[in-house]
Amino acid sequence: MTVGTACGKIILFGEHAVVYGRPALAVPLSQLRARAFVESRAEQGIVIHARDLKRDILVNDSTVDDALATITRLTLNKLGVTGNLEISVESDIPVASGLGSGAAISTAIVRALAAHFHQSLAASEISALVYETEKMYHGTPSGIDNSVIAYEQAIRFVRGQPITPFQIARPFTLSIANTGIASPTKITVGDVRRGWEQDKARYETIFDDIAEIVARAQDALARGENHLLGELMTRNQRALESLDVSSREIENLIDAGMRAGASGGKLSGGGRGGNVIFYVAEERAEEVRRAVGEAGAVSTLVTYVGK
Ligand code: MEV
Repeated sequence: MTVGTACGKIILFGEHAVVYGRPALAVPLSQLRARAFVESRAEQGIVIHARDLKRDILVNDSTVDDALATITRLTLNKLGVTGNLEISVESDIPVASGLGSGAAISTAIVRALAAHFHQSLAASEISALVYETEKMYHGTPSGIDNSVIAYEQAIRFVRGQPITPFQIARPFTLSIANTGIASPTKITVGDVRRGWEQDKARYETIFDDIAEIVARAQDALARGENHLLGELMTRNQRALESLDVSSREIENLIDAGMRAGASGGKLSGGGRGGNVIFYVAEERAEEVRRAVGEAGAVSTLVTYVGK
């Protein structure tokens, strides 16, 4: 049996505006992983067991709408192989929570299949394959999720441009809190698209504001001026609220985290649910984690960025 794994991801700054050509900063979340296991089977055909989704998928011509079947077909095609296979997937990453679960599961499948057939694929090739399934999950995705997950490094992402790593001069603590509300990115991305179509000037101004926040954050990270990050996160959150992708639950968690000593917070990913991130001094991280738990977060974790 061969195994492939892939990390989750966090967008620090710039979600949604990134769909419209603005830059965004994202980091891998290596503690949360998706895993895929591949083995040959005696019976004809390919079956995928998605344990967490409690689904078994037989890969054939009628599963064209299924992202897991699609990534399997695309990968085998890319590798130039066929086979009778049993693929199992499992993931620690909550689905539809802004942490890249879909892209991580697809990436794990690509890696496990490549390993099964003793081939290796470059990160750029894996990212391109996974982007095809991102379109199924997200409608008009920017490509940031598949990029940060396939490369598993902190990246500055601009749609259509080569990805560039960004510098983190001083590591910092990030507290992450899950609202427990599953919110498919496809829906929020679609709603922002409708809003943009109705009032392009207003939306473009918000996207420009987000681009400026991203530029400042990148600069602060490169200089080790981490004290600026909290305020920039809060400003990014306000811009996301103007795009109508926030929610009462997100804002309740942010309020609780801020009261407990976080320096700033924002939703991360598609919004309307999913995860909230806080920039927090290490000694306050535990307090923030407790406060957001009491305020209703279904799960919390603390991660170190740049370490
Ligand atoms: C989703 O993780 C990030 C969004 O910006 C969508 C995308 O970039 O495709 C909301």
